[in-house]
Parts: sequence; C-alpha cells; structure tokens
Amino acid sequence: MKNTELILALDVENLSSAENLLSKFKGIVKYYKVGSSLFTLEGPKVIDIVHKYGGKVFLDLKFHDIPNTVKNAVMSAQKLGVYALSLHISGGVKMLEVCASLDERPKLWGISVLTSFDEESFALTGFRDNIASTMDKFSDLGVSAGLNGLVCSGFEIEMLRKKFPEDINIVVPGIRLGNADDDQKRIITPKKAKELGADFIVVGRPILKSQKPEETVKIILKELE
Ligand code: C5P
Repeated sequence: MKNTELILALDVENLSSAENLLSKFKGIVKYYKVGSSLFTLEGPKVIDIVHKYGGKVFLDLKFHDIPNTVKNAVMSAQKLGVYALSLHISGGVKMLEVCASLDERPKLWGISVLTSFDEESFALTGFRDNIASTMDKFSDLGVSAGLNGLVCSGFEIEMLRKKFPEDINIVVPGIRLGNADDDQKRIITPKKAKELGADFIVVGRPILKSQKPEETVKIILKELE
C-alpha cells in the first residue's frame, strides 16, 4: 500500500506558537504546511524555524498571477528551501509551464476548485462547467503542464489515482478522526485516505484543537502505518 505522510498545518497565530508545536513534534512529524496567515505576519522566519527543527515545508500560498510573477515567486520559494508549494491551476497553462520548467524548484502542487465552493457560488464566478467536470479538466491541465501533484478532497482521491501515474502526488486536506463539528464538509479518515492512495494528508484542527495533541498525532501515524 501507499506510503502516506502526515503534513501538520501550522495554522497558529504567531512564530512562538509555531515553535511550540515544532518542538513538541520534532522527529515525529516531518512535514509542515505554512499558510498565508502565518506567513503574512511572520514571513520567511517561519520557514527557517521549521528547518531548524528538521522539518520540511509545504508553502501553501496558492499562487495565481501572471506567469512571470509566479515564476519569480517559485524561484524565491526555492531560495528559502521549501519542499513543495501550491499554485492555482486556473492561473493557466503558461503560468504552470514556466514554473514547471525551472531547473531547480520545489515540488508544485496544483489547486483545482476550492472546496469552499458549491455549484451556485462556483457558477457565479463565470465558469461554464460544473465543479466535477472543471476539476477533471484542471487536473489534466495541471499534470500535462508538469505539476508534481494535486491537492484534492478525500472524495477525489480514487478518481485521480486511476487517471494519473503513481509519481503524481495526491495531497488531501479535510481529514477527520471521527465526527467533527466545523466547516470541513467533505471529510475522510487518515486510514481511508491511505487506502485510496493519498501520498500526503494535511491535518490542522484535529491536532491543533485536541486536548492531547501528542496522542492525536500518535493515532494518526498509527492509521498511516
Ligand atoms: O484544520 P483543518 O484540518 O481543516 O486544516 C486543513 C488545512 O488545509 C487548512 O490550512 C486549510 O486552509 C487547508 N486546505 C483545505 N482545503 C483545501 C485546501 C487547503 O482545508 N481544499
């Protein structure tokens, strides 16, 4: 079965909270997601501190701009030593290709349709197709442009795994251990994500809001064994 890695989302307020987590999980959790909230406040110091604790960074800033600007951002991320970053496939084939063609760069993981959309709000953006067929087209576009992976909900893992070769990373947020009462709707357990063929699962609140974060991480890692 697939080797599935845990990425802990560093969705915390500031650098010192991030450092708390990193010291707690040093040597236990290898990958950390740095998102726009913490990065906007603290900048590259966050990435340095993950490295200081021996972790690897998934920089989740969801780039979407003209090709040259995104290419420069990818080069900057490479200078910071990040492992992987996210960019919007809807930025278009040219944007994706100039990034993918860089000799030295982080892994590029494509965002297709944000899971916060429903059909009605998605149609209002001007897309003519429904969410499922847009995702289908976007995933083809992303992989043929040279992306290394795709971010998707647990409900798309099976479809994407069938369509693409094993070396295309499937990265899955929306992971829950049991019933959770929050804004994630399309949820899946770590075990199920692994069975379906996810390469990475992204977990935030189930760990961050847990009464016993170490125990929760232990349970997740056990499910991924
Ligand atoms: O707290 P939770 O486990 O829901 O965290 C999931 C993380 O993954 C958050 O940082 C969220 O922004 C991110 N994410 C997501 N759904 C996507 C893409 C990213 O929940 N489609």
